[in-house]
Amino acid sequence: MSQLKIITIIGARPQIIKSAALSRAIRNKFSYQLKEVVVHTGQHYDDNMSNVFFNELEISKPNYNLNVGSGSHGKQTGMMIEGIEEILLIEKPNCVVVYGDTNSTLAGALAASKINIPVIHIEAGLRSYNKSMPEEINRIMCDHVSTLLFSPTKTGFNNLVKEGFKENSEPPYSINNPKIIHCGDVMFDNSLYFSSIAEETTAILKENNLEEEKYILATIHRDNNTDNAVRLNSLFNAINKIAKENKIKVVIPIHPRTAKLLPKNLNSSLYSEIKISEYIKIIDPVSFLEMIALEKNAQLIMTDSGGVQKEAFFFKKPCIILRQETEWIELAECGSAITADAIEQNIIDAYNIFLSKKKLVFPNIFGGGKASEFICSEIIKQIN
Ligand code: UD1
Ligand code: UDP
Repeated sequence: MSQLKIITIIGARPQIIKSAALSRAIRNKFSYQLKEVVVHTGQHYDDNMSNVFFNELEISKPNYNLNVGSGSHGKQTGMMIEGIEEILLIEKPNCVVVYGDTNSTLAGALAASKINIPVIHIEAGLRSYNKSMPEEINRIMCDHVSTLLFSPTKTGFNNLVKEGFKENSEPPYSINNPKIIHCGDVMFDNSLYFSSIAEETTAILKENNLEEEKYILATIHRDNNTDNAVRLNSLFNAINKIAKENKIKVVIPIHPRTAKLLPKNLNSSLYSEIKISEYIKIIDPVSFLEMIALEKNAQLIMTDSGGVQKEAFFFKKPCIILRQETEWIELAECGSAITADAIEQNIIDAYNIFLSKKKLVFPNIFGGGKASEFICSEIIKQIN
């Protein structure tokens, strides 16, 4: 059997991290059967949003970087499609792997599918059922031009069935006859693999004077939270009140989007108070290993991030989801997460509920930590 060439498209921070799991599986178990070529769109480009992950997650630097940078959805996605297409025509891969739901995902899926290269979507089937999110549009579009759709959860798989994907399609698979597969979560693979390494190698708690279980970890970056002044003020008012009333530190590794919008969108008095607060600590984005260390030792996590809400679950931490809904519906269903939206009182209530709750449950929803190996073996079987 000849070696298959995969092109992996990455661009945003969470995709670089997710790709580490598959690259590790290829390197360790499938290097005879699979050759990976990595294309970075350049959607994220600050050192602490991109480079840092290559250095620490044992992944080689991308073979190509399109350096697309920031811009409007259309401009950014368009530039990516153009650049990816050129590379696909040169490299002639057997398939293209895309992750998640960002503009880089959509660009990879459109560029490849239009020139008849099979698309493999990892994290397929997730739905928030809120099409005002750019991510929801990206996911739906990407799923519907994919050939192999790997869903991390049973809910994701079922969502695809509801959209007309056949549960038991027969090979050969193609864009017209796709295969949907429930396979577990590559990020669960990563959290198992990096968990102890993170605690052994990082000093982030010490550097920030944080003690185990004595701080809240918060992240905020969704456009409808950062760009909307009412929502952003409500989020920071809630955080500020919880911190003061409970005398608890809140550490916030700040996404560059949020960092740019805080001075513009927060009321000046709130902004000034937060800047000098003895409890609230806004820090630069941290590395993935540092993030794991922060997550594992937090009392509770507040986030509007898809990845961080799941990692809260992996590390058995209560989570307040700062969104109206979540595509990781199981987290809310089992009670370990509460969707509080950007509503100040909801967030405060959710915090108090978790303080008074003795025991949370974290059922096994995300597989056994071998999703990436399974995905590799399926690619080898199904793509030819
Ligand atoms: C993107 C994804 C979102 C994902 C997030 C992960 C889309 C539509 N959105 O959102 O789904 O959850 O990544 O973090 O693809 N910026 C910098 N430096 C960087 C990167 C961004 O300063 O390295 C700033 C720029 O001002 C930029 C803004 O952040 O305009 C937003 O970046 P962008 O990649 O467009 O969207 P994200 O909000 O990061
Ligand atoms: N993350 C990180 N450093 C940070 C914040 C997040 O390494 O300062 C990691 C986090 O652990 C998770 C991923 O980035 O694995 C989530 O990315 P993000 O929140 O940017 O995007 P989303 O998951 O919402 O698409």
